[in-house]
Amino acid sequence: GVTPKIAPSMLSSDFSNLASEAHRMINYGADWLHMDIMDGHFVPNLTIGAPIIESLRKHTKAYLDCHLMVTNPLDYVEPLGKAGASGFTFHIETSKDNWKELIQRISMHGMRPGVALKPVTPIEEVYALVEAENPVEMVLVMTVEPGFGGQKFMPEMMDKVRILRKKYPSLDIEVDGGLGPSTINTAASAGANCIVAGSSVFGAPEPAQVISLLRNSVEK
Ligand code: DX5
Ligand code: ZN
Repeated sequence: GVTPKIAPSMLSSDFSNLASEAHRMINYGADWLHMDIMDGHFVPNLTIGAPIIESLRKHTKAYLDCHLMVTNPLDYVEPLGKAGASGFTFHIETSKDNWKELIQRISMHGMRPGVALKPVTPIEEVYALVEAENPVEMVLVMTVEPGFGGQKFMPEMMDKVRILRKKYPSLDIEVDGGLGPSTINTAASAGANCIVAGSSVFGAPEPAQVISLLRNSVEK
């Protein structure tokens, strides 16, 4: 369905207080918690992995929307499944030859499969995954270069969102990077319904207000 899902990116949280940061976001009205998993190889930054997901899972029942910015996502499926991840979104750039196996193993480990694409990657590259017998259930359209929070939203990525929404009326379409009060209308009107927001939520004096503004913009 295309119900709004507002997913604060925990990359912008205080990692030394991850459980309380997670509780705070859920209390502010977040639907999902977006967890950016990086390996220092696919992207020039290193963040968290399965051990931290496992620790966080002991403190919350929230949907953990894991975004795998790693060169070998297959290696992460079993550890993340056991750790209690909810969604597992891999990058198509890393998985052109084994996405069928990847999707199958993600589902087998009880997670919801998704596919992400970098700004440079054409949208056509994900059609087969959405239309497969065992399909991905979400497409994540990156609206910045993956790797870091706090970058500027790329409005030219909205062509991808519009094309996807027209082709797949009930697909979950997630946008990630530079989303906040000044860019949400562009993304929502193009058809995005899952909204990742890091710096705009964590940097706000009243994060709950930003979360509700994001949701209202998607519902309009
Ligand atoms: C970037 C990550 C994003 C990032 C978004 O590689 O995938 O999830 O945390 O941060 P903002 O919302 O600050 O652009
Ligand atoms: Zn992300």
